[in-house]
Amino acid sequence: MARIALEQITRIFNATTAIADITFEVPDGQFWVMVGPSGCGKSTILRTIAGLEAATSGDLYIGDRRVNEVPARQRDVAMVFQNYALYPHMTVAENLAFGLRMRGAAADTIQPRIEAVAKSLDLAHLLDRKPGQLSGGQQQRVALGRAIARQPQAFLMDEPLSNLDAQLRDDTRAELKQLHQRLGITTIYVTHDQTEAMTLADQIVVLSRGRIQQIGPPQKIYRQPANQMVATFIGNPPMNLLSAVYHPGKFRVGDQALPCPSAWQAILQTRIDQPINLGIRPEQVQIAPAGEDGGLMAQVTLVEPLGRETLVRARLPGVARPISLLAAPEQAVQVGDRLSLRFDERALFLFDPQTGDRLH
Ligand SMILES: Nc1ncnc2c1ncn2[C@@H]1O[C@H](COP(=O)(O)OP(=O)(O)OP(=O)(O)O)[C@@H](O)[C@H]1O
Ligand SMILES: [Mg+2]
Repeated sequence: MARIALEQITRIFNATTAIADITFEVPDGQFWVMVGPSGCGKSTILRTIAGLEAATSGDLYIGDRRVNEVPARQRDVAMVFQNYALYPHMTVAENLAFGLRMRGAAADTIQPRIEAVAKSLDLAHLLDRKPGQLSGGQQQRVALGRAIARQPQAFLMDEPLSNLDAQLRDDTRAELKQLHQRLGITTIYVTHDQTEAMTLADQIVVLSRGRIQQIGPPQKIYRQPANQMVATFIGNPPMNLLSAVYHPGKFRVGDQALPCPSAWQAILQTRIDQPINLGIRPEQVQIAPAGEDGGLMAQVTLVEPLGRETLVRARLPGVARPISLLAAPEQAVQVGDRLSLRFDERALFLFDPQTGDRLH
């Protein structure tokens, strides 16, 4: 097991900078998750660590060793891809044992390890089958098992669960977490799935356009996003962004006004009559009881029952983008209803519309 450290790693393909100035250190035994929009450089970072891609500049360490010039197969990391490639002519057991055999492990170490891995991933009854006789989800678990059986210094996983159906995905995610608790192998994991990021990560790395936006524990990323990109990327349904204009003491949001928290008035003094973005999470928007005023008026345009709650979209007069909120299923909201919306001012975020910087 080993720490993984990246120091100012940059990778340029022809004229495209895929990743720029990436610096972070995953301490030995931790589980880190990388997230970000498609094309932001997640796979490039993993492939660089694995040695499948060479960094254009910067230093890469696995343990105490600088590995920039070390070939992939000598780095002792196991990578699991979204498009797992199993050997079609080998049985599940042979696929699981393959990495160990290649490294010259003795048969009496291989056998018990294969059995243990197969048991924990629910593959024990499939050991004699060939990959062609397995479902997609089973194949994916064999690919995971093959990496786990090797017990490498580190795991690099690129969306390893994305081919599984929802139920299997939940189960395998829980299995992975337990496995990590048991083995404690340093892991860097890429996903598009917010639940996976929030539940698995010791630290989340949020990337955009090849650059790190924020690194932090899941709750911190959620509660204290560093900027507008992180704020709107993490959270489902995503945070609402309202384009507003600041006037002394208040924000104009479309045709309505919203009081400005007094603590912010000093920050906003240089921005009088200028545009500002207000952020509010859907779960923080409340529907005020009928007859009570003081909130923002909005008209419901769409009602989407999700089971445990109902996602409501409503239009604020003079605002192009609808606002999303979550209502309890027993709140009978219908398209066309006029609602008075309230939110705690402590739940509001303030962003510079030009730079996306968080202003408070
Ligand atoms: N071999 C290559 N040649 C040229 N450009 C590349 C190459 N590999 C990746 N890129 C570019 O580098 C950027 C980052 O790609 P990367 O695959 O790392 O993104 P990603 O975050 O993994 O995206 P996704 O979520 O879609 O998998 C993209 O703009 C991509 O087009
Ligand atoms: Mg990718």
